[in-house]
Amino acid sequence: MTAPLFEPFRHGPLDLPNRLVVAPLTRVSATPDGCATPEMAAYYRRYAEGGWGLIVTEATYVDDHASQGYFRQPGIVTAAQVAAWRQATDAVHAAGGRIILQLSHAGALGQGNPRGRQTVAPSAIRPAGEIARRYRGKGPYAVPAALDEAGIAAIIAAFGQAARNAMEAGFDGVEIHGANGYLIHQFLTPDSNQRSDGWGGSLENRLRFPLAVLQAARDAVPEGRILGLRLSQSRANDAGAQWQDGAAEAEGIFTAMGRVPGLYLHISSHTGCAPVFDSGLSLAGLARRHSGHPVIANGRLESGDLAQKLLADGEADLISLGKAAIADPDWPTKVQRGEIPVPFDPDMISPVADLTSRMAWDWSLG
Ligand SMILES: Cc1cc2nc3c(=O)[nH]c(=O)nc-3n(C[C@H](O)[C@H](O)[C@H](O)COP(=O)(O)O)c2cc1C
Repeated sequence: MTAPLFEPFRHGPLDLPNRLVVAPLTRVSATPDGCATPEMAAYYRRYAEGGWGLIVTEATYVDDHASQGYFRQPGIVTAAQVAAWRQATDAVHAAGGRIILQLSHAGALGQGNPRGRQTVAPSAIRPAGEIARRYRGKGPYAVPAALDEAGIAAIIAAFGQAARNAMEAGFDGVEIHGANGYLIHQFLTPDSNQRSDGWGGSLENRLRFPLAVLQAARDAVPEGRILGLRLSQSRANDAGAQWQDGAAEAEGIFTAMGRVPGLYLHISSHTGCAPVFDSGLSLAGLARRHSGHPVIANGRLESGDLAQKLLADGEADLISLGKAAIADPDWPTKVQRGEIPVPFDPDMISPVADLTSRMAWDWSLG
């Protein structure tokens, strides 16, 4: 398989040898106090060696209160966590790769935080569904506490400080996790945001929190480093969820994001990249049209054909792969050579999605 998947991409701080991005993948393999391990550094280095243009890390928590979603998730809060991540950025850079840190607050979907069981969210509404067993847990979600003004301000500041810490840890940039039903997504959607103050109600109000987080990150990330935002309709606890106002909502959200300077958008869908809202375009295509920013498309693109089409049709600039990356770190190199990569098997992330689970590929320390 050749161009356009293997053409270089250059736009502002995004300066990549090809269009292939490792999607953020939670592997719940950090130390109990949230430090990335030498095994994680070796795992990320392996992707750089496999020829991926860009690596987005697993979701990483941003404060020492309620942002952590999963036991053994890494953080970027303490000096020890910053130093620990430095091993991974050094390893990836030594192998010629580029790596950015995904910054996340779990909000109501928090299911494993050693600091306590109390989660926080825009409104005190228990999320639907069951907590994820593959991230160590079971049973229903907790009822979150509704955030007050001080709590919201503290989280916005925490995202800014976390982005600063990521720069100190040597990352090439950060991606804000606004997708998959976590805190930022909870502010965006009316079923989880039923606030009657300035943070809820109209789309303009629901956009205030995501935009404030982006502003805090923008202030922390210099122009020469990468800043992105991940958005989705689907949620970790509801793969088929849709934005309530369809095309109008997409236009409102993406137009607002278009005003944030130097951003890229990463549009994910667990259910794939088919056209949405009778628009004839994928959600990624709508993001590109309305924001004017570079767009990474994600979701079931591992066969390569649709990925090539999205690039060729101008619906996306980059493609990220999740499960295919778990299955084969050499996906780019193999596909470019016309070889067939190892296919994904759910056993690779079962019963827990950590790095000790049965993986089809091996990596070593050093
Ligand atoms: C084990 C696992 C962990 C994931 N962790 C994250 C994460 O930390 N952050 C995130 O934004 N998405 C996460 N996702 C979603 C993926 O990035 C991706 O959107 C999803 O797998 C669909 O893409 P795919 O069809 O290429 O796998 C995860 C998915 C899997 C399977």
